[in-house]
Amino acid sequence: MSPTREERRERLVEVYREASVCELCPLSETRTSVVFGSGNADADLMFVGEAPGAEEDRQGLPFVGRAGGLLSELLEGIGLTRQDVFIANVLKCRPPGNRDPQPIEIESCDPYLMRQVQLIEPRVIATLGNFATKLLTGSRTGITKVRGTVQVHEIGGRSVFLMPFLHPAAALRTPSLVETLREDFAKLPELISRPGPDGGGERPSAEDLAPETVAAGSDQLGLFGG
Ligand code: URA
Repeated sequence: MSPTREERRERLVEVYREASVCELCPLSETRTSVVFGSGNADADLMFVGEAPGAEEDRQGLPFVGRAGGLLSELLEGIGLTRQDVFIANVLKCRPPGNRDPQPIEIESCDPYLMRQVQLIEPRVIATLGNFATKLLTGSRTGITKVRGTVQVHEIGGRSVFLMPFLHPAAALRTPSLVETLREDFAKLPELISRPGPDGGGERPSAEDLAPETVAAGSDQLGLFGG
């Protein structure tokens, strides 16, 4: 039987507690915060970006800088808010100077991402940019070739739809790509409305569920409510 929404959230908080003191790779020496992820622990749609930047490292939250502003806008464009989805990254700690993630860092952090996917059980995973796409598809094909085309992958022990997107930061550097991102985002509502690729995964919509009280007293524990 699927865990209840509250069980999902509690288990995710346990993984967060573990990640928040992680020293598995050298990024623990330079980070200000572990950016575990935020949003709805019961989400049908999960975003996976690359790694926290300076602002994310400062606030302990994913996608709160300029790229995050664009992500929120793209979500609004398809009638969703950040509370409807879960947002995480391949790396939970910022690489100094925003350099590319290193293999040892990806390898050390991957189990946290896998546990997030196992607990949240999204039907759709949206990868943002090359790193997340290559890691989760297991393919070396670059994002410009695969963006906007749905794939099916076994991730965290379940079949999920995976939709690769350009990274919002790339679209900020090349404004014409914002429209490409918008066009690709427009494909999400239909994809989310499908049963999962294994035919399962029907859950009540967010509106069917009463708002829940957020646990107080710890910095990021309120992040996984609906
Ligand atoms: N870019 C990412 O990939 N992740 C963030 O959280 C912020 C910027």
